[in-house]
Amino acid sequence: MNADEQKRAAAVRALDFIEPGMKLGLGTGSTAEHFVRALGARVKEGLEIVGVPTSERTGKLAESLGIPLSNLDDTPHLDITVDGADELDIELRLIKGGGGALLREKIVATASDRMIVIADASKLVSTLGAFPLPVEVIPFGCTVTAHKMADVASAFGCTGRIVRRADEYGEPFFTDSENFIYDCAFGEIPDPDGLAAALNRIAGVVDNGLFIGIAAMAIVGTPAGTNIIEAK
Ligand code: 5RP
Repeated sequence: MNADEQKRAAAVRALDFIEPGMKLGLGTGSTAEHFVRALGARVKEGLEIVGVPTSERTGKLAESLGIPLSNLDDTPHLDITVDGADELDIELRLIKGGGGALLREKIVATASDRMIVIADASKLVSTLGAFPLPVEVIPFGCTVTAHKMADVASAFGCTGRIVRRADEYGEPFFTDSENFIYDCAFGEIPDPDGLAAALNRIAGVVDNGLFIGIAAMAIVGTPAGTNIIEAK
């Protein structure tokens, strides 16, 4: 299986954990899209669930597939969130936010009894950090905030370029919550737990893409099939 087939296989296997009546968080990105499409097919066959999307993009897709939707204000407690990741390690610590949806993804995942991560084999790493860590930042004073992020990160052994994300036209990228994303090319992150907490203490940082202690299970597609990793 190639990478996209691995993503799809992981997404389809996640359906095994979905039961009628569940309230589901719907992730963002190409892997999550495979899940939403597969879920939409089950809904057409009669499966009754309610979905809470983690982005405008996912909401539009789910709506087009006829998946009944809600939001966290009306449906504050979810059974399972299924979402992709940019990187995961064996302890199920994640880097997310490549698609710019990390804030809503974290809010939805932590409103759920379980987060199931779906990914292709390339996402499983021994040490997080090859993928630049996305950090969501309030536009006001963002340059100061970015300097503080660099200082804090260096105290955790993380150096490397911190770049404000741009869209395909070179204009600043805005999240669904109208914030900026800074991508931090730290390389290996020796202490993800410490770095995540320290970044979030900086005024102006809304949240960062490290998901620590949130995922309960990962389904990883491989060339030979899917593997399940469960949180200890
Ligand atoms: C979006 C995310 C995605 O889950 C992550 O970027 C993985 O994307 P893909 O499934 O397309 O590889 O965190 O904010």
